[in-house]
Amino acid sequence: MTEFDKTSAAYWHAKRVEYAYKFAVRQLRRRIAAARIPFRPGGRRWRSALSLRALDRLQAGTLQYRYRGLPMLKSPFEVALYQELLWEAAPRTVIEIGSYLGTSALWFADMLALRGEAGLVVSIDVNPPEPSFTRADIRFLRGDARRLGDVLPPALIANLRRPLLVVEDASHRPDSTLAVLRFFDPILQPGEYIIVEDALVTDLGAAHRFAGGPGLGISQFLAERATRYEIDTRYCDRFGHNVTGNPNGYLRRV
Ligand SMILES: C[S@@+](CC[C@H](N)C(=O)[O-])C[C@H]1O[C@@H](n2cnc3c(N)ncnc32)[C@H](O)[C@@H]1O
Repeated sequence: MTEFDKTSAAYWHAKRVEYAYKFAVRQLRRRIAAARIPFRPGGRRWRSALSLRALDRLQAGTLQYRYRGLPMLKSPFEVALYQELLWEAAPRTVIEIGSYLGTSALWFADMLALRGEAGLVVSIDVNPPEPSFTRADIRFLRGDARRLGDVLPPALIANLRRPLLVVEDASHRPDSTLAVLRFFDPILQPGEYIIVEDALVTDLGAAHRFAGGPGLGISQFLAERATRYEIDTRYCDRFGHNVTGNPNGYLRRV
């Protein structure tokens, strides 16, 4: 028997011990990361009602998700929740920060088109995609979440049809989240939404890989502008407390 004989009981026992150790470290990390988010709007916890094991399975499935055969990084909860929000808030323009392969822009454009009114998706990325599809109702722009004024000048914003829906889905670092929230704050009108994606990284015990994660950015922003926004708990908590990839991330301008 060699040291790495994968058919041996000893090998698999060692693997189980290693997995249990790593899992315990992540459990600890998620507790510490959640405790480090200073501001709890309305006393809301950042944790999800789901266990870490359930969140892991969900995340694994989300990373394999396809729309029209193309990879799209949206959890099944977001696919359901956005559909409801798109119907209720009825945006005519979606601005997405973080295009990846462009599939989420395609999905948003398709959802807007279902209403039968002209819609537009503006999708911004430091590395914009070169998608296999061409659509007149989607514009991919090169830009940085931390310097949105360079790519979204006032004249462009003024010409967009309202209501607006903004989706922050870029680097998941708090400085980037905060920059996007601050940029859109004077632009958003009452009733419009800005969604911050993937604060779930805190609950996955992975916030340290994103300098603390988007939850820190949301927390700081809401501490500054508490009276101007509400966390729409009808979306965040539809399937259980923060059972979404975007815990405390469905923000409505009041
Ligand atoms: C999570 S992916 C977006 C996923 C996509 N919205 C979806 O649902 O399929 C993040 C994207 O943000 C982009 N990105 C990273 N940092 C950025 C920044 N500072 N500004 C703009 N885009 C950024 C990356 O290039 C990547 O394509």
